[in-house]
Amino acid sequence: MINQKYKEMLNAKNIIRVLSEYATARGEEIGYENVFDYSLGNPSVPCADDYTRAVIDLHEHEDPMAIHGYSPSLGNTSVREAVAASLKKRFGLPYETKHIFMTSGAAGAIAHAVRAVTVPGDEVITFAPFFPEYNPYVNETGAILKVVPPRTEDFQINFTEFEKMMNEKVQAVLINSPNNPSGVVYSEETLERLSMYLETCEKKYGHEIFLISDEPYREIVFDGATVPYPAKYYKNTITCYSFSKSLSLPGERIGYVAVNPAAKDADIIALMCGQISRGIGHNCPSSTPQLAVSRVLDQTSDLSVYETNRNILYKELVDLGFTVVKPGGTFYIFPKALEEDSVAFCNKAKNYDLILVPADGFGAPGYFRMAYCIDTEKVERSLPALRKFVNTEYH
Ligand SMILES: Cc1ncc(COP(=O)(O)O)c(C=O)c1O
Repeated sequence: MINQKYKEMLNAKNIIRVLSEYATARGEEIGYENVFDYSLGNPSVPCADDYTRAVIDLHEHEDPMAIHGYSPSLGNTSVREAVAASLKKRFGLPYETKHIFMTSGAAGAIAHAVRAVTVPGDEVITFAPFFPEYNPYVNETGAILKVVPPRTEDFQINFTEFEKMMNEKVQAVLINSPNNPSGVVYSEETLERLSMYLETCEKKYGHEIFLISDEPYREIVFDGATVPYPAKYYKNTITCYSFSKSLSLPGERIGYVAVNPAAKDADIIALMCGQISRGIGHNCPSSTPQLAVSRVLDQTSDLSVYETNRNILYKELVDLGFTVVKPGGTFYIFPKALEEDSVAFCNKAKNYDLILVPADGFGAPGYFRMAYCIDTEKVERSLPALRKFVNTEYH
């Protein structure tokens, strides 16, 4: 008999995908250029030229048997070495090859990190607003995802609610900064407080509580700011990184787990990930993207369009009277809807060919997300539609 749980999951549609499909279908009717599609977080700028050159060079000049052969289960050793060296140089923590495990994107990294530090029945806490895919990433391991309600004034961590939810079953805390969907960067103050609190809880409950830090947007940050690196604040940190957004490579499925060298069992967690892979069929990502990203670790795509789009949209939303926290990074903005029911709000927006995502699934009902990884020209053309929508429906 087929597995009923997965069969039932077929009925639970992913709202982002549903809206994106709607946008495509509407595009076929009126021309996609006339649909203001703010649904998907798919990078809108090409990857760095040096990445393309690296792929070409690898295929033209390297031994085909090496390029296309199985790579080691932890990832290619030279790649892990390069990642460790780059992190060490950038963040000053003494990473070594043994702390790095190559994965298929951040999704693959989180799948391994959660399994490495929990057993079924354990709890993993995350903070709203959160990326809805954390539900399957965590719950499919047998651990249970618990979501702390948002602190809506700035979308930093809501410590009052967090402390109420903490208990001895919590083995890991999952954070995401810069954040999808709020665009907020966790401040040093937030990370210091989080670290102090987790250390107190580790003592109280007599076991480690790992911080799993999901960082696909680490490089997409605005106003010349620097994103505080969570592992610098808390030793039991497992960093989950992805090149999907910084290098615009979501289709290549490439990222890594980096275990803080000071973490408990730091010398074996990456090795354990190799064992976890055997069970979940995710044995190391393809060789070419691994080798190619290792040549461009300190580069990004030209990400400037995201800041331009953030500036345009933030100003317009504020002018139109929205309550909105200014994003410090990513390519998302997360305003409060103009009526309590954000699903109804986003449905009305569709009549103006504005595709906005209601935030119930992000753990913040009443808000909506706009993914502004689209051309600036289209953002500008969407503004009259946005004004018309607000003025017609809400004034
Ligand atoms: C917060 C967050 N985490 C993880 C992922 C998964 O990224 P990847 O493509 O690297 O698997 C995404 C993708 O959108 C994301 O937004």
